[in-house]
Amino acid sequence: MSNIPGYTLGTSSVSRSPVSLTDFEQMKASVLFGEEDVKYLRMSHDIVKGRVEAILDVWHGFVGSQPHLLASFSGKTDGKPLGDYLAPVRKRFGQWILDTSNARYDQAWLDYQHEIGLRHHRVKKNKTDGTPSTDLVPFRNLFALIFPVTFTLRPFLAEQDHSAEDVEKMYAAWVKSCLLQVTLWAHPYVKDGDF
Ligand code: HEM
Repeated sequence: MSNIPGYTLGTSSVSRSPVSLTDFEQMKASVLFGEEDVKYLRMSHDIVKGRVEAILDVWHGFVGSQPHLLASFSGKTDGKPLGDYLAPVRKRFGQWILDTSNARYDQAWLDYQHEIGLRHHRVKKNKTDGTPSTDLVPFRNLFALIFPVTFTLRPFLAEQDHSAEDVEKMYAAWVKSCLLQVTLWAHPYVKDGDF
């Protein structure tokens, strides 16, 4: 069990995902995610586990350099970046890198994906860290970030002695996993009955 504040995967405080494992199997088929992707995500795990902080530095730099993104981590009234918000979220983000690459996408993981979606949405944003930030991460940014998150990860995947083909397959598996996850996170943003 992790001692990262606010990281609640596998605990009773996480409610059941409205998306069933059967639905999720179909989503996986839609994005052509299969056993090979699990294998390549786990191959990437051995690389990323030693590089979490460096990866987070790149992603933080990206968010921090764009005022419209940084706004989601800033005070709702004064617009100033909230260190007490960025720091704990960064820790959970680090754990997310490990969970994504571990690729144990079971019921507890599926439930936590719903929780992450709620935490970006006004239902639960700011609640975990008790921060006075904006009410909502706008969906238009959430989805678009899949590209920079995965594209800037790619050089890390190529850092060790893996073949070009392995690097390409690890990268593809990450893109697919992020597409699946952000789609799951979209649930609270989508009109009832339309997911
Ligand atoms: C929280 C990943 C897009 C703002 C998180 C967490 C993760 C994550 C792993 C921590 C979840 C937890 O509590 O365990 C991602 C990924 C994205 C993405 C992979 C896109 C592919 C965005 C965008 C923004 C954003 C575009 C807006 C700038 C936030 C905020 C939190 C958060 C404000 C804290 C939410 C809270 O109050 O608990 N994100 N995120 N995220 N993310 Fe994102």
